[in-house]
Amino acid sequence: MSRLLLSLLLLLSAQSILGAQPGTRVVADFNKGWKFYLGDEAGAKDAAFNDAAWRKLALPHDWSIEGKFDEKNPAKPEGGGLPTGIGWYRKTFTLPATTGRNVFIEFDGVYKHSEVWLNGHSLGQRPNGYISFRYELTRYLQPAGKANVLAVRVDNSAQPDSRWYTGSGIYRNVRLVTTHQVAVDEWGTFVTTPAVSAQAATVAVQTQLRNATGAPRTVSLQTVLLDQNGREVARQLTLGVKQAGASTSVSQKLSLKNPQLWSVAKPYLYRVKTTILAGKTVEDEYETPLGVRTCEFAQNGFLLNGQPLRIQGVCQHHDLGALGAAVNVRALERQLEILKKMGCNAIRTSHNPPAPELLDLCDKMGFLVLDEAFDMWQKKKNGQDYHLDFKQWHQRDLEDQIRRDRNHPSVFLWSIGNEIREQFDSTGTRLTRELTATVKRLDPTRPVTSALTEQEPAKNFISQAGVLDVLSFNYKHAEYPKLPGSFPGQKFLATEIAAAYETRGHYDLPSDSLRVWPKDGKTKLTTGNPDFTASSYDNAAPYWGATHEAAWRAVRNSPFISGAFVWSGFDYLGEPLPYPWPARSSYFGVIDLAGFPKDAYYLYQSEWTTQPVLHLLPHWNWRPGQTVDVWAYYSQADEVELFLNGKSLGVKKKGTDDLHVMWRVPYAPGTLQAISRKAGQTVLTSTIKTAGPAAKIELTADRSKLRADAKDLSFITVRVLDAAGNLVPDAANLVKFAVSGPGFIAGVDNGYQASMESFKKPERKAYNGMALAIIQTTEKSGAITVRATAEGLEAASVTLQSKP
Ligand code: GAL
Repeated sequence: MSRLLLSLLLLLSAQSILGAQPGTRVVADFNKGWKFYLGDEAGAKDAAFNDAAWRKLALPHDWSIEGKFDEKNPAKPEGGGLPTGIGWYRKTFTLPATTGRNVFIEFDGVYKHSEVWLNGHSLGQRPNGYISFRYELTRYLQPAGKANVLAVRVDNSAQPDSRWYTGSGIYRNVRLVTTHQVAVDEWGTFVTTPAVSAQAATVAVQTQLRNATGAPRTVSLQTVLLDQNGREVARQLTLGVKQAGASTSVSQKLSLKNPQLWSVAKPYLYRVKTTILAGKTVEDEYETPLGVRTCEFAQNGFLLNGQPLRIQGVCQHHDLGALGAAVNVRALERQLEILKKMGCNAIRTSHNPPAPELLDLCDKMGFLVLDEAFDMWQKKKNGQDYHLDFKQWHQRDLEDQIRRDRNHPSVFLWSIGNEIREQFDSTGTRLTRELTATVKRLDPTRPVTSALTEQEPAKNFISQAGVLDVLSFNYKHAEYPKLPGSFPGQKFLATEIAAAYETRGHYDLPSDSLRVWPKDGKTKLTTGNPDFTASSYDNAAPYWGATHEAAWRAVRNSPFISGAFVWSGFDYLGEPLPYPWPARSSYFGVIDLAGFPKDAYYLYQSEWTTQPVLHLLPHWNWRPGQTVDVWAYYSQADEVELFLNGKSLGVKKKGTDDLHVMWRVPYAPGTLQAISRKAGQTVLTSTIKTAGPAAKIELTADRSKLRADAKDLSFITVRVLDAAGNLVPDAANLVKFAVSGPGFIAGVDNGYQASMESFKKPERKAYNGMALAIIQTTEKSGAITVRATAEGLEAASVTLQSKP
């Protein structure tokens, strides 16, 4: 057995290998076996440093989410009121012989200002907390079998640095990648489809080859297209590729017959398999996703594969509620599943590059992605934010984002910035041209936009640059009708709409008067409701925002706008407008922080899907004699009739511009029932009953068959019910969780924006009758039983199966 083969086999056995091909590229999950210290340690970069007392953990990790809420934390309430600071990570590892190989460490994102050392040698620094980066380890590695130490210092101490919660630490995945000296470079493929029809697609593949041998090499480049079932559908072999220098670019064109198109309804994915051959020896194998689709912003809307598609999007920050910023694929997938059911077809990664896994999921599940780069350029939004690093780093950060993300079929539009302050001075024009040129150089196939606020052309120095393909605006929907006149011939998108506040299950009457909190630019925060709630009747918003209904109606009535991104899909940590402390997470979500839909979810579902919807609100526990507004969101029906205790309260129909119907009802306890009808036939029925005292707990797991991979999650919904099984709409019982078997509580929540309870404790008070427990698997298989108890309530339990 050759030494190389032996060492490769050793490497394979030493690492947990993901998708590895022996002899070529080895991509190993590098998340396990880290040590962590919260604080600064001068000598921790040195290999000899003793970290025996440090905490053991696996990445991804966010230390902020483990901390205590405190108004005085330097990130401030807008940053979620959680601790930040400095943290160190170290990992000791050995490798087999790496002769003739190049070894890299890849970080998907470290928040922020990271520096990485291998065996005491600094590999580099990266200020941006959202960008992916890699370092080459090769030259500093110890000989085979000897210990290497990677040390990472993360400095998130300069605060406040963000308008929302960022998290702190190595909060995304880390991989160890080993290649031959001749290999595909980092993000080294660019796959486009310059011509697409039902009969054929041209697939253009540009491959960047790396040659680390220091001598000229001649190789062959083979590119194979595989369909969803792994069957080969096209191939091209380019012989005699001369690699004179360190980097060589090769262009190939393949023809794909009868392509299956990628769409949001049917996200068909091909794979492009790149092989570098030296004679008959495989030097490298590399895969790139491919979705064959055309995207076009036309004067009257957006076209996907030539068909009009209204963009029904949401803006999302990156945190995962109780899990903080630590990325988890299942948690992301659950968010997307909930959004998909609402009819959402697009995600705006506000206001930074996302975790790569989000893009993989959007490719697979059928979401368009507006991939955004920055929330500020040179002018700050918050004292210590990225404006300090912009000058030195923006070019590199933007290039890396485009290179990393440009092969995802889900990515349909780039945004170079959100509400950038340079919009208002001439530097905005220069920077817009520069950033747009950078994007176009690396990806000439996709349009570029920036989320603007200024709809007056003379005052907007970003639109004046004249280089944005799409003009996107946040809010100010009343001014939409002026857009085509102000910007003749341009294409429009609403990058933010609504910003309405809702607390799940809370209702302020009367429902038809708008709470404008704050009422103008001079007022900062509001006292609003003393319990820091906002009404779920869709009747609260800041002065710059609007109700969901008014905002979406304006988009719907403006055919020249391609669609909209609602601010926001889910509640997120930080930016707890309109309230001061103890509010610590946002009120803007259509879905709360725990993932429970608020009522506006059904407004969008009724507008954005073709399935029949009938959603009745509020709950039915009020004071006798109180006047209560009963709303229904409905679709695929002509009318809705409401009954209280069997007595009709009348039939209602939406007017052309209404998105809901309402009855003003003198409250009497009992049963409220709505029936939607089409041509006289019942479509749907919805019932809400007055709940009696809380009697029992109900647990519902979103998934009960789990993977024993120490990553998979089950989201368990807790509902507090009365004896007859009705949700008790104001139940606040403290629910305690006990887990047995190979699983643990990764987080708990109840969606209440002003809760000071820990996300990590095995207990949570119900909020408006509901709570959430997130159970994570370990690497052991077996049954996981989750038991929930609360004083005075009948307990409940649920059993999950975790398998390899
Ligand atoms: C926008 C901003 C978002 C968020 C939102 C809240 O102006 O782009 O990041 O702050 O307001 O309404």
